[in-house]
Amino acid sequence: MSWAGRHIISIADFSTEDMLHILDLAASLERQPRPDLLAGRLMATLFFESSTRTRLSFEAAMSKLGGQVIGVTDALSSSARKGETIADTIRMVDQYADVIVLRHSHEGSARLASDVSRVPIINGGDGANQHPTQTFLDLYTIAKLFPDRLQGAGAPLRITVAGDLRYGRTVHSLLTALTHFPVCMQMVPVPGLEMPGHCLDEAQMAGCPVQLLPDLETAVAQSDVLYMTRLQRERFPDPLEFEHVKSAYRVDAAMLRSAAPQLRILHPLPRVNEIAVDVDTTPHAAYVPQAGNGVPVRQALLALVLGRAEVAVGSGA
Ligand code: CP
Repeated sequence: MSWAGRHIISIADFSTEDMLHILDLAASLERQPRPDLLAGRLMATLFFESSTRTRLSFEAAMSKLGGQVIGVTDALSSSARKGETIADTIRMVDQYADVIVLRHSHEGSARLASDVSRVPIINGGDGANQHPTQTFLDLYTIAKLFPDRLQGAGAPLRITVAGDLRYGRTVHSLLTALTHFPVCMQMVPVPGLEMPGHCLDEAQMAGCPVQLLPDLETAVAQSDVLYMTRLQRERFPDPLEFEHVKSAYRVDAAMLRSAAPQLRILHPLPRVNEIAVDVDTTPHAAYVPQAGNGVPVRQALLALVLGRAEVAVGSGA
Protein backbone atom coordinates (compact mmCIF):
# COMPACT_ATOMS: atom_id res chain seq x y z
CA MET A 1 0.00 0.00 0.00
CA SER A 2 1.24 3.50 -0.83
CA TRP A 3 2.12 5.61 2.17
CA ALA A 4 1.39 9.05 0.72
CA GLY A 5 -2.04 10.19 1.84
CA ARG A 6 -2.50 7.21 4.15
CA HIS A 7 -4.46 7.61 7.40
CA ILE A 8 -3.00 6.31 10.66
CA ILE A 9 -5.98 5.14 12.66
CA SER A 10 -5.44 1.69 14.15
CA ILE A 11 -2.49 -0.64 14.57
CA ALA A 12 -4.62 -3.34 12.97
CA ASP A 13 -4.22 -1.50 9.65
CA PHE A 14 -0.44 -2.09 9.58
CA SER A 15 1.62 -5.10 8.51
CA THR A 16 4.87 -6.25 10.08
CA GLU A 17 6.68 -4.80 7.06
CA ASP A 18 4.95 -1.43 7.61
CA MET A 19 6.03 -1.34 11.24
CA LEU A 20 9.64 -2.19 10.46
CA HIS A 21 9.65 0.47 7.74
CA ILE A 22 8.48 3.10 10.25
CA LEU A 23 11.18 2.05 12.72
CA ASP A 24 13.89 2.15 10.03
CA LEU A 25 12.82 5.58 8.83
CA ALA A 26 12.66 6.92 12.40
CA ALA A 27 16.20 5.66 13.01
CA SER A 28 17.36 7.27 9.78
CA LEU A 29 15.80 10.62 10.73
CA GLU A 30 17.26 10.42 14.23
CA ARG A 31 20.74 9.83 12.79
CA GLN A 32 20.42 12.37 10.02
CA PRO A 33 18.19 15.38 10.78
CA ARG A 34 16.35 16.74 7.70
CA PRO A 35 15.44 20.33 8.53
CA ASP A 36 13.79 21.08 5.15
CA LEU A 37 12.01 17.80 4.43
CA LEU A 38 8.50 19.16 5.09
CA ALA A 39 9.09 22.82 4.23
CA GLY A 40 5.88 24.41 3.01
CA ARG A 41 3.67 21.77 4.64
CA LEU A 42 1.19 22.55 7.42
CA MET A 43 0.04 20.22 10.21
CA ALA A 44 -3.12 20.85 12.26
CA THR A 45 -3.29 19.39 15.76
CA LEU A 46 -6.87 19.00 16.97
CA PHE A 47 -6.59 17.94 20.58
CA PHE A 48 -10.01 17.74 22.23
CA GLU A 49 -8.47 15.86 25.17
CA SER A 50 -5.48 16.91 27.25
CA SER A 51 -1.97 15.96 26.12
CA THR A 52 1.63 16.93 26.71
CA ARG A 53 3.80 14.39 24.91
CA THR A 54 1.72 13.50 21.86
CA ARG A 55 0.88 17.04 20.83
CA LEU A 56 4.24 18.59 21.62
CA SER A 57 6.27 15.79 20.05
CA PHE A 58 4.16 15.99 16.88
CA GLU A 59 4.68 19.74 16.83
CA ALA A 60 8.41 19.32 17.46
CA ALA A 61 8.60 16.66 14.75
CA MET A 62 6.89 18.92 12.19
CA SER A 63 8.97 21.97 13.14
CA LYS A 64 12.26 20.04 13.02
CA LEU A 65 11.39 18.94 9.47
CA GLY A 66 10.75 22.51 8.39
CA GLY A 67 6.94 22.35 8.44
CA GLN A 68 4.51 24.58 10.26
CA VAL A 69 1.80 23.93 12.81
CA ILE A 70 -1.67 25.24 13.65
CA GLY A 71 -3.88 23.75 16.30
CA VAL A 72 -6.64 23.46 18.84
CA THR A 73 -5.42 22.51 22.28
CA ASP A 74 -8.68 22.56 24.16
CA ALA A 75 -12.23 21.63 23.16
CA LEU A 76 -13.50 24.63 25.12
CA SER A 77 -11.62 27.04 22.87
CA SER A 78 -12.98 25.56 19.63
CA SER A 79 -16.42 25.51 18.04
CA ALA A 80 -16.88 21.98 19.39
CA ARG A 81 -18.12 23.87 22.44
CA LYS A 82 -20.94 25.28 20.29
CA GLY A 83 -21.90 21.80 19.15
CA GLU A 84 -19.94 21.45 15.90
CA THR A 85 -19.48 17.81 14.93
CA ILE A 86 -16.12 16.13 14.33
CA ALA A 87 -17.05 15.62 10.68
CA ASP A 88 -17.81 19.31 10.13
CA THR A 89 -14.62 20.34 11.92
CA ILE A 90 -12.53 18.03 9.74
CA ARG A 91 -14.20 19.30 6.54
CA MET A 92 -13.02 22.80 7.44
CA VAL A 93 -9.54 21.97 8.70
CA ASP A 94 -8.66 19.76 5.73
CA GLN A 95 -8.81 22.96 3.65
CA TYR A 96 -6.28 24.64 5.93
CA ALA A 97 -3.73 21.89 6.58
CA ASP A 98 -1.91 19.06 4.77
CA VAL A 99 -2.22 16.60 7.66
CA ILE A 100 -4.40 16.49 10.79
CA VAL A 101 -3.51 14.91 14.14
CA LEU A 102 -6.66 14.26 16.16
CA ARG A 103 -7.13 13.34 19.80
CA HIS A 104 -10.69 12.86 21.01
CA SER A 105 -12.45 11.12 23.86
CA HIS A 106 -14.85 9.26 21.55
CA GLU A 107 -13.79 5.80 20.43
CA GLY A 108 -13.92 5.66 16.65
CA SER A 109 -13.54 9.44 16.25
CA ALA A 110 -10.34 9.12 14.20
CA ARG A 111 -11.91 6.56 11.86
CA LEU A 112 -14.92 8.84 11.42
CA ALA A 113 -12.59 11.77 10.67
CA SER A 114 -10.70 9.71 8.08
CA ASP A 115 -13.99 8.92 6.30
CA VAL A 116 -14.57 12.61 5.52
CA SER A 117 -11.05 14.06 5.33
CA ARG A 118 -9.20 14.92 2.12
CA VAL A 119 -5.87 14.91 3.97
CA PRO A 120 -4.26 12.22 6.14
CA ILE A 121 -5.72 11.82 9.63
CA ILE A 122 -3.37 10.63 12.36
CA ASN A 123 -5.03 9.22 15.45
CA GLY A 124 -3.48 10.81 18.52
CA GLY A 125 -5.69 8.69 20.78
CA ASP A 126 -9.42 7.97 20.56
CA GLY A 127 -11.01 7.30 23.93
CA ALA A 128 -10.06 3.92 25.38
CA ASN A 129 -9.65 2.47 21.90
CA GLN A 130 -6.27 3.03 20.17
CA HIS A 131 -3.11 5.15 20.32
CA PRO A 132 -1.16 3.88 17.31
CA THR A 133 1.60 6.49 17.22
CA GLN A 134 2.40 5.75 20.88
CA THR A 135 2.74 2.11 19.89
CA PHE A 136 5.15 2.90 17.09
CA LEU A 137 7.34 4.82 19.53
CA ASP A 138 7.02 1.98 22.05
CA LEU A 139 8.22 -0.48 19.40
CA TYR A 140 11.05 1.88 18.47
CA THR A 141 12.07 2.11 22.12
CA ILE A 142 12.03 -1.68 22.57
CA ALA A 143 14.02 -2.11 19.36
CA LYS A 144 16.64 0.37 20.62
CA LEU A 145 16.85 -1.27 24.04
CA PHE A 146 17.03 -4.82 22.71
CA PRO A 147 18.57 -4.63 19.21
CA ASP A 148 17.42 -7.49 16.94
CA ARG A 149 15.41 -9.24 19.67
CA LEU A 150 12.12 -7.94 18.21
CA GLN A 151 13.10 -9.64 14.96
CA GLY A 152 13.80 -12.98 16.60
CA ALA A 153 17.46 -12.99 17.59
CA GLY A 154 18.01 -14.74 20.92
CA ALA A 155 15.30 -15.77 23.37
CA PRO A 156 11.85 -14.21 22.87
CA LEU A 157 11.49 -10.95 24.75
CA ARG A 158 9.27 -11.29 27.81
CA ILE A 159 7.03 -8.22 27.76
CA THR A 160 4.59 -7.62 30.61
CA VAL A 161 1.81 -5.03 30.47
CA ALA A 162 0.52 -3.94 33.88
CA GLY A 163 -2.13 -1.75 35.44
CA ASP A 164 -5.24 -0.45 33.77
CA LEU A 165 -5.53 -2.84 30.87
CA ARG A 166 -9.23 -2.13 30.44
CA TYR A 167 -9.22 1.57 29.65
CA GLY A 168 -5.54 1.99 28.68
CA ARG A 169 -5.58 2.51 24.92
CA THR A 170 -1.80 2.29 24.68
CA VAL A 171 -1.76 -1.35 25.79
CA HIS A 172 -4.57 -2.26 23.39
CA SER A 173 -2.53 -0.92 20.48
CA LEU A 174 0.71 -2.39 21.81
CA LEU A 175 -0.72 -5.87 22.19
CA THR A 176 -1.98 -5.83 18.60
CA ALA A 177 1.43 -4.70 17.35
CA LEU A 178 3.38 -7.24 19.35
CA THR A 179 1.43 -10.13 17.80
CA HIS A 180 3.61 -9.42 14.74
CA PHE A 181 6.81 -10.20 16.62
CA PRO A 182 8.28 -13.26 18.36
CA VAL A 183 7.66 -12.14 21.94
CA CYS A 184 6.26 -13.72 25.07
CA MET A 185 3.36 -11.56 26.31
CA GLN A 186 2.42 -11.40 30.00
CA MET A 187 0.01 -9.21 31.98
CA VAL A 188 -0.73 -8.02 35.50
CA PRO A 189 -4.09 -6.22 35.41
CA VAL A 190 -5.42 -4.28 38.38
CA PRO A 191 -8.44 -6.33 39.52
CA GLY A 192 -11.51 -5.05 37.71
CA LEU A 193 -9.39 -3.45 34.98
CA GLU A 194 -8.61 -6.55 32.93
CA MET A 195 -7.75 -6.48 29.22
CA PRO A 196 -10.93 -6.58 27.08
CA GLY A 197 -11.76 -10.08 25.90
CA HIS A 198 -11.60 -9.14 22.22
CA CYS A 199 -7.95 -8.00 22.62
CA LEU A 200 -7.01 -11.28 24.29
CA ASP A 201 -8.91 -13.28 21.66
CA GLU A 202 -7.13 -11.45 18.83
CA ALA A 203 -3.74 -12.12 20.44
CA GLN A 204 -4.62 -15.78 20.93
CA MET A 205 -5.75 -16.14 17.31
CA ALA A 206 -2.52 -14.48 16.15
CA GLY A 207 -0.54 -17.12 18.04
CA CYS A 208 0.55 -14.73 20.79
CA PRO A 209 -1.44 -15.75 23.90
CA VAL A 210 -1.08 -13.48 26.93
CA GLN A 211 -0.05 -15.18 30.14
CA LEU A 212 -1.52 -13.88 33.41
CA LEU A 213 1.05 -13.23 36.17
CA PRO A 214 -0.07 -13.11 39.81
CA ASP A 215 1.51 -9.80 40.83
CA LEU A 216 4.04 -7.08 40.05
CA GLU A 217 6.78 -8.79 42.06
CA THR A 218 6.57 -11.76 39.72
CA ALA A 219 6.52 -9.45 36.71
CA VAL A 220 9.67 -7.67 37.88
CA ALA A 221 11.48 -10.99 38.31
CA GLN A 222 10.27 -12.54 35.05
CA SER A 223 10.25 -9.75 32.43
CA ASP A 224 12.62 -8.02 30.06
CA VAL A 225 10.16 -5.15 29.57
CA LEU A 226 7.60 -4.07 32.17
CA TYR A 227 5.12 -1.71 30.54
CA MET A 228 3.32 0.18 33.29
CA THR A 229 0.15 2.20 32.73
CA ARG A 230 -1.72 4.91 34.56
CA LEU A 231 -5.19 4.26 35.91
CA GLN A 232 -7.37 6.19 33.48
CA ARG A 233 -9.36 8.25 36.00
CA GLU A 234 -11.16 10.14 33.22
CA ARG A 235 -12.60 6.91 31.76
CA PHE A 236 -14.06 5.48 34.97
CA PRO A 237 -17.84 5.69 34.84
CA ASP A 238 -17.94 5.77 38.65
CA PRO A 239 -15.47 8.02 40.61
CA LEU A 240 -15.89 5.80 43.69
CA GLU A 241 -14.66 2.81 41.70
CA PHE A 242 -11.52 4.81 40.80
CA GLU A 243 -10.90 5.76 44.44
CA HIS A 244 -11.20 2.11 45.40
CA VAL A 245 -8.48 0.88 43.01
CA LYS A 246 -6.17 3.88 42.55
CA SER A 247 -3.39 2.74 44.91
CA ALA A 248 -3.67 -0.91 43.99
CA TYR A 249 -0.30 -1.23 42.32
CA ARG A 250 3.05 0.55 42.37
CA VAL A 251 6.66 -0.25 41.49
CA ASP A 252 9.41 1.19 43.64
CA ALA A 253 13.18 0.82 43.85
CA ALA A 254 12.95 -1.73 46.67
CA MET A 255 10.81 -4.02 44.51
CA LEU A 256 13.41 -3.80 41.74
CA ARG A 257 16.08 -5.49 43.89
CA SER A 258 14.77 -8.82 42.56
CA ALA A 259 14.75 -7.63 38.94
CA ALA A 260 16.88 -9.17 36.23
CA PRO A 261 19.65 -6.71 35.24
CA GLN A 262 18.23 -6.26 31.75
CA LEU A 263 14.71 -5.33 32.93
CA ARG A 264 13.56 -2.03 31.48
CA ILE A 265 10.45 -0.22 32.67
CA LEU A 266 8.39 1.64 30.10
CA HIS A 267 5.34 3.84 30.61
CA PRO A 268 3.49 5.98 28.06
CA LEU A 269 3.26 8.69 30.74
CA PRO A 270 1.99 10.70 32.46
CA ARG A 271 2.52 8.64 35.61
CA VAL A 272 0.65 9.31 38.81
CA ASN A 273 1.40 6.84 41.64
CA GLU A 274 2.29 3.69 39.74
CA ILE A 275 6.07 4.28 39.47
CA ALA A 276 7.77 5.75 42.54
CA VAL A 277 10.24 8.54 41.79
CA ASP A 278 13.04 6.48 43.35
CA VAL A 279 12.83 4.23 40.27
CA ASP A 280 13.94 7.14 38.07
CA THR A 281 17.59 6.84 39.08
CA THR A 282 17.79 3.05 38.66
CA PRO A 283 19.18 1.56 35.43
CA HIS A 284 15.75 0.01 34.86
CA ALA A 285 13.98 3.30 34.14
CA ALA A 286 13.50 3.83 30.40
CA TYR A 287 10.30 5.90 30.28
CA VAL A 288 11.92 9.32 29.85
CA PRO A 289 13.97 8.42 26.74
CA GLN A 290 10.88 6.50 25.57
CA ALA A 291 8.95 9.79 25.47
CA GLY A 292 11.88 11.40 23.60
CA ASN A 293 11.61 8.74 20.92
CA GLY A 294 8.24 10.25 20.03
CA VAL A 295 9.99 12.91 17.94
CA PRO A 296 11.85 10.74 15.38
CA VAL A 297 8.95 8.29 15.17
CA ARG A 298 6.43 11.05 14.51
CA GLN A 299 8.83 12.65 12.04
CA ALA A 300 8.84 9.34 10.18
CA LEU A 301 5.05 9.13 10.18
CA LEU A 302 4.66 12.69 8.92
CA ALA A 303 7.23 12.13 6.18
CA LEU A 304 5.46 8.94 5.12
CA VAL A 305 1.90 10.25 4.93
CA LEU A 306 3.06 13.47 3.26
CA GLY A 307 4.88 11.50 0.57
CA ARG A 308 8.39 12.58 1.53
CA ALA A 309 9.79 9.34 2.93
CA GLU A 310 11.70 8.43 -0.21
CA VAL A 311 13.41 11.79 -0.04
CA ALA A 312 14.15 11.26 3.66
CA VAL A 313 16.25 8.18 2.96
CA GLY A 314 17.32 9.08 -0.57
CA SER A 315 19.62 11.60 -2.14
CA GLY A 316 18.72 14.50 0.08
CA ALA A 317 17.02 16.35 -2.79
N1 CP B 1 1.65 9.16 26.11
C1 CP B 1 0.77 10.14 25.88
O1 CP B 1 -0.16 9.99 25.08
O2 CP B 1 0.99 11.28 26.61
P1 CP B 1 0.13 12.59 26.52
O3 CP B 1 -1.26 12.25 27.01
O4 CP B 1 0.82 13.59 27.38
O5 CP B 1 0.06 13.01 25.08
